[in-house]
Amino acid sequence: MEKIAVLTGAGISAESGISTFRDSDGLWENHRVEDVATYSAWERNPELILKFYNERKRQLDTVEPNAAHKALVELEKKYQVTIITQNVDDLHERAGSSNIIHLHGELRKKRSSIDDNLVYDWGDEDLKMGDKCELGSQMRPHIVWFGEMVPMLGAATEVVSRADYIIVIGTSMVVYPAASLIHYAKVNSQKYYIDPKASNVNGVKNMVSIAEKAGKGVPQLVSELMSK
Ligand code: OAD
Repeated sequence: MEKIAVLTGAGISAESGISTFRDSDGLWENHRVEDVATYSAWERNPELILKFYNERKRQLDTVEPNAAHKALVELEKKYQVTIITQNVDDLHERAGSSNIIHLHGELRKKRSSIDDNLVYDWGDEDLKMGDKCELGSQMRPHIVWFGEMVPMLGAATEVVSRADYIIVIGTSMVVYPAASLIHYAKVNSQKYYIDPKASNVNGVKNMVSIAEKAGKGVPQLVSELMSK
């Protein structure tokens, strides 16, 4: 089977009703990214961080996968597909994709603040100050904040470097190291970039830009790839 690596960002979940990060005046759900998505913000104001991610998690319970998430599942009938997502939602899982790498963590999980390997299901309740891991430290969201390591980067790089096709969907390609992944692709692999603001990524060969919303552009590309 030929291999496809799919790199997704906030844009693929936009039509499900989850806000992107950089499409609304630089604010994410009314907050500056530096106030809610950095390790220093957690140190400075953990209550605000917990409130913010409790809200994001509750929002996740109200949204559903859209046509783009669902179309990607279809590709598995013909290709070996790995989704590498910057998103912390679980919409790829709920659509039914089999292989998913979360570069920036997962909203349905929480973890110890002193041992990154102690990861737990978040459960149904809000996460509160005083909720402790088995080592007695405060629990935090299982999110990779700015200023933190990206533990899944090595696995993602390997998948991209072996892929015959790369499909980039709904990401501004400005946040590193995620944005650097495309540069590990084989020179001859065929690449597609689906995003209303898609433009040629400098220095990347064989890339077709498809300036469409994911809900339209992804099902179209999937049907093209299925009939190859
Ligand atoms: P951005 O908000 O930077 O970019 C969203 C992209 O989605 C833009 O290029 C939009 O044009 C595009 N878009 C909007 N609506 C779309 C639609 N219906 N279909 C397809 N594309 C659409 O989001 P990311 O690139 O995902 O990190 O941001 C990367 C990281 O920055 C996030 O993972 C997050 C953030 O800070 C952390 O929180 C660590």
